[in-house]
Amino acid sequence: MDDRADGGSDGGPEGAVRAWRRQADAAVLLDGFHALKHAVRFGADVPVALAVDRAAVLALAADLAPDVVADLDKLLVEVEQDVLRALVPRLHPTGVAALAGRPARADHLAALRREGRTTPVVVLDNPRNLGNAGAVIRLAAGYGAAGVVTTGSLDPWHPTVVRGGAGLHFATAVERLGADELPRGPLYALGPEGADIRGLKLPDDALLAFGSERNGLSAELRARADQLVSLPMRPQVSSYNLATSVGMTLFHWSAHSTNAP
Ligand SMILES: C[S@@+](CC[C@H](N)C(=O)[O-])C[C@H]1O[C@@H](n2cnc3c(N)ncnc32)[C@H](O)[C@@H]1O
Repeated sequence: MDDRADGGSDGGPEGAVRAWRRQADAAVLLDGFHALKHAVRFGADVPVALAVDRAAVLALAADLAPDVVADLDKLLVEVEQDVLRALVPRLHPTGVAALAGRPARADHLAALRREGRTTPVVVLDNPRNLGNAGAVIRLAAGYGAAGVVTTGSLDPWHPTVVRGGAGLHFATAVERLGADELPRGPLYALGPEGADIRGLKLPDDALLAFGSERNGLSAELRARADQLVSLPMRPQVSSYNLATSVGMTLFHWSAHSTNAP
């Protein structure tokens, strides 16, 4: 993105708002301080950032994330609250929002398909809940997973997913793919009827596949799985939440891998 607001140099707040309007349709919405902080920290291209109280956001950064203060100081343009609400109706309590360029799909596909990948790819098979998808991306980023692939119609770059992921989309490779386009690697599919995860070592190049909240794993992924894996659960409990399942599985992988953080 090269159409930057540059601290409002092309007309202060008005110029920044114009820059926002020009770019909003093609950009990723960073909604709130933490999304902006992570995006900046992980190298996102952020052409415009607006805040209701610029000084308050910089003070928050000085307190929580001193490493991004200088970047935010250059980026942030103060605008009236109603102006920002007109652009971002569900404004985050931190009163800050920004736009970022979406990373190139080709770069993500190259990372996901790299020969000799050293950390797993998380596959969400037709997820339905935007908040779950965001939480999974946050987990994948935290564990240093190579990426998160979704199948089905949910857009993993939807603003609600980016908000749920706290902007950590920029710390891993997030793409939607067809079920027939998954990266290479042994496919470990998580479902309550599989082999107990505690007896398994999950390889670093694994694809870790999880089913949808309502229907579980599709027949297609189940049939292609090299191994069905279960998380311990006492009788009468039907299943765990999707993001919780991803968290437990990545933790188990990390406990046996020298490539985990
Ligand atoms: C909320 S669950 C899906 C429940 C769904 N009603 C079903 O019938 O499978 C979402 C996903 O989390 C994973 N999951 C949940 N509990 C699990 C368990 N005990 N063992 C392995 N995977 C589990 C599975 O991948 C599952 O498809």
